[in-house]
Amino acid sequence: MSEPVNQGVVVAKSRATYNEGYMPGFGNDFETEALPGALPVGQNSPQRCPYGLYAEQLSGTPFTAPRETNKRSWTYRMRPTVQHISGFERIELPLFRSAPTVGEDTLPLMPLRWDPAPIPGEALSFLSGMRTIATGGDVHTQTGYAIHTFAVTESMTDDYFYNADGEMLIMPEIGALRFFTEFGIVDIAPGEIAVMPRGVKYKVELRGAPQARGYICENYGQLLTCPERGPIGANCLANRRDFLTPVAAFERKDGTKCRLTVKWGGTFSQCEIEHSPLDVVAWHGNYAPYKYNLRHFSPVGPTLNDHADPSIFTVLTAPLGEPGTANIDFVIFPPRWLVSENSFRPPWYHMNVMSEFMGLIEGVYDAKPEGFVPGGMSIHNMMLPHGPDADAFYAASLSKLEPQKLDNTIAFMFETRFPQQLTKYAAELPTLQRGYPEVWKPLRNHFDPDRPEWNGE
Ligand SMILES: [Fe+2]
Repeated sequence: MSEPVNQGVVVAKSRATYNEGYMPGFGNDFETEALPGALPVGQNSPQRCPYGLYAEQLSGTPFTAPRETNKRSWTYRMRPTVQHISGFERIELPLFRSAPTVGEDTLPLMPLRWDPAPIPGEALSFLSGMRTIATGGDVHTQTGYAIHTFAVTESMTDDYFYNADGEMLIMPEIGALRFFTEFGIVDIAPGEIAVMPRGVKYKVELRGAPQARGYICENYGQLLTCPERGPIGANCLANRRDFLTPVAAFERKDGTKCRLTVKWGGTFSQCEIEHSPLDVVAWHGNYAPYKYNLRHFSPVGPTLNDHADPSIFTVLTAPLGEPGTANIDFVIFPPRWLVSENSFRPPWYHMNVMSEFMGLIEGVYDAKPEGFVPGGMSIHNMMLPHGPDADAFYAASLSKLEPQKLDNTIAFMFETRFPQQLTKYAAELPTLQRGYPEVWKPLRNHFDPDRPEWNGE
C-alpha cells in the first residue's frame, strides 16, 4: 500500500506481474535485451557489438515499403544466421501443403462441414502434425493462403523451424503451446492466438498437457494488421495495447545436434547444426512474433435492429491492393449481447464473393446450434449459398426478443477473396459430414398471398 501523496513528484512503477515477459502494443518499435547493455544505443550496426554479438537485420517488407507498413527488426546474436543453415536436404511433409491445390477433390459442389478429427496416438510434432485443409492464391507469387489444422503430441526439443512462405496465425483449441522464438517466448492457450512472422525461427513445445489441437492460417500476402475502424472511432474491436510481443530470450546449447527445417516455396528442407538458432540476446524493431487474447476483443454491434455484417468482428486483416478486399480477414464471433428489436438475430441467408472457413474454439455458434462443435470446421465457398439451419431459423423467427447474452463461445472465420481449394486430405476425411446440406431441407415455403402477416409457424 503506497503512502498518500499531497505534494511533490510521483513516478509510476512498472507492474512487474502485468503481462510479465511481454511488451504491449500492436506493431510498436520495441527494444529488449536479455543481458544488460547488449543493445547498441543510437545506432544499429556499431563497429563492434556489445558482448561480441553479430548485428543482423530481418526485413518483413521490402526496404522501400512505406513508413506505415515497413517492418524490420535488428537482432544481436551469437552467430549470424548464415551459420544456421548448412547442407540442406529436401524432406517431405506430404500433408503440410501450399497453394495452389486446385482440382484435388472430386466432391460435388456444396457447403462443407466436418466433425473434429480425433488427435492421433502417434508422435506428432508441430510440423509432422500439420494437416492442410484448403488453399487459395499461389505461394509462388506471395498471394493467398493455406488453412491448416494441427495436432501435437510431442514437443520440439532440438528441432527448429522457419517459414519463408508466410506468417502463421496459430489458434489452439485443445492444449497450451509454447513458441520459443528468436525474439523471445510466446505462450498461448485456447482463446488466444499467436502470429509467427515469415522468416522467424522457433520451436513449439507442449505446455502442461500431453496433446494440443487447433487451427492455423498461413498468410502468404501482405502482413496481418489491425483493420480500420471508420466511424467507430479510436477504440473498440481489437485494441492495439492488447497485442503482446515477447521480451528477448535465448538458449545456449553449443555442441548439441540440432535440426532446422525450412518451408520455402511450398517445399521443405532440413539441415543439421551444432547449436541452437535461438541465439538472439537483444533486439529492436517492429517485426516480431505477437500474441492476443481473443477475450479482450471489444465487440460493437446493432443496438436497435438488424444483424450487421460479420466484418464488425474483424480482429486482423491482410489486405490486398483493391480497397476493402482482403487476402485474409480473421474474424471472431465472441461472447456478446443480442438486443436488436423486431429482428431476425442470427446471420441472414446469403451468397458472397468472399469464401469463408469457420472453426469453433469453444461453446456454440448461434447459426448452427448442432453439428458444428469445437474442433470442427466448415467451408462456405465463393458464391455458394448458406445461412442458419432450419432449427435455428424457426427458433429465431418465433422467439420472444429479449436481451440475450451469447456466452462462453468463440467461433472464428478466415474470410478470403481467393476461393478455397480443398486438399485431397480434407476431401477424404472420415469426419466430413456428407449430409450437411440436409440441415436446410426442413425449411418450408410459407408464402401465402392471402396472408401478409406470417406468425412464424
Ligand atoms: Fe457466410
